[in-house]
Amino acid sequence: MGKAPVIQRPRGTRDLLPPETRLWQAVEEVAREVFGAFGAEEIRTPIFEPTELFVRSVGETTDIVHKEMYTFADRKGRSLTLRPEGTASVARAWIENGLADRSQPLRLYYIGPMFRYERMQRGRFRQFAQIGLELLGADGPLADAEVLAALYEFLGRLGFKDLEVHLNNLGDPEDRPRYLSAIRDTLAPHRQELCGDCQRRLAENPLRVLDCKVPRCGELAAAVPSMDSVASQASRRHVGEVEEQLARLAIPFRRNPRLVRGLDYYLRTVFEVVSPQLGTGTVVCGGGRYDRLIADLGGPAVPGIGFAVGEDRLVEILPEGFRTSVLARPRLYVIPLGETAVRHALPHARAWVRGGVSLELEVTGRSLRAALKRAAGEGFAAAAILGEEELAAGEVTVRDLARGEQQRVALAALPEVWHRHWGRGK
Ligand code: HAM
Repeated sequence: MGKAPVIQRPRGTRDLLPPETRLWQAVEEVAREVFGAFGAEEIRTPIFEPTELFVRSVGETTDIVHKEMYTFADRKGRSLTLRPEGTASVARAWIENGLADRSQPLRLYYIGPMFRYERMQRGRFRQFAQIGLELLGADGPLADAEVLAALYEFLGRLGFKDLEVHLNNLGDPEDRPRYLSAIRDTLAPHRQELCGDCQRRLAENPLRVLDCKVPRCGELAAAVPSMDSVASQASRRHVGEVEEQLARLAIPFRRNPRLVRGLDYYLRTVFEVVSPQLGTGTVVCGGGRYDRLIADLGGPAVPGIGFAVGEDRLVEILPEGFRTSVLARPRLYVIPLGETAVRHALPHARAWVRGGVSLELEVTGRSLRAALKRAAGEGFAAAAILGEEELAAGEVTVRDLARGEQQRVALAALPEVWHRHWGRGK
């Protein structure tokens, strides 16, 4: 009989395996802790939504809607889309659940998978996870600064030191037509020199020409006046005040007049967090203000500001200190020797787990030698050897695998010994 054919995961998806999944859990734990401390609570929305939601919020002419959505018809012919981002869903949920009736503002965070049919390259996946935070119901610059402060607190706890915020003022929607004409007026004479995508963008979504990665497009776009120079006084004051707050918090930032972001709902403050390690093309976090989004989706006029961190990218560049502290979690290898010990090992192991020990029980019947070899190879901190003689005396032999020293301790005292030698922070 031939072997059954092997099935592979879809391109652009990943299997996250242990021990790397521990890093993901740890990052998410820090996010929950920090965002929670800043007053946010979790929101969970569906992974698929009506296609219309993203078309109307992210924008028909954006790359996401234009060519990256996983859209399908369900059995009743409804057009559904795997969510490419989270803000649109939060806005929809806000309207649908009448969250405007709750005391304002509301801070919401989410952690979960997003889907975009992207061209494959480093740090880009078709299923990726975002950790997002949204502050809804406040329109002043203090809200923008607070969201950035929460983001920096989060990144700081993970040990990041060299991440810089790039930010820009996209002005108010009323400023937009003036600005789009300025882009078209500057670039139209050079239309033929732009890349094919930008020739289309110039007609459909001229803002996006500004952040095209093709070098010639970049050179031509440099001649376009900055958005800030045509933006409303109010929006300039707004973003200026956000910058003042960031300076007060000693958060490193830089104004980038070419930063436009790939979603249509933004106005005023937009920002990205860039890692020198990943290069400027790969952004760890993006966000901005979206004061008209909820109204544009048929809800009340509720302003909002938020961001989403790309968790895949974040985990990839986690600082060494955080990475080691998570991966080096000490564990105990419990080795029962002989039939009686095998019979009694599990109740003891359970009692130790209840006492806060993390352990693994030898369940395959290895010899002591083979078990110790495996324990050392797998980086266990210690082994608990349960022999017939130890058991009869109500004891267990605890062997420090790094030092090679061992001692006998009472069965009930094992958790205490464990915490003393290998507890957190030791
Ligand atoms: P975004 O910039 O499209 O913004 O995505 C945010 C982050 O998700 C990016 O900075 C990146 O780290 C990560 N990301 C995006 N696409 C991929 C991919 N294909 N593979 C891996 N990571 C990716 C938004 O989604 C907005 N909803 C953010 C926001 C929240 N704005 C206001 N509130």
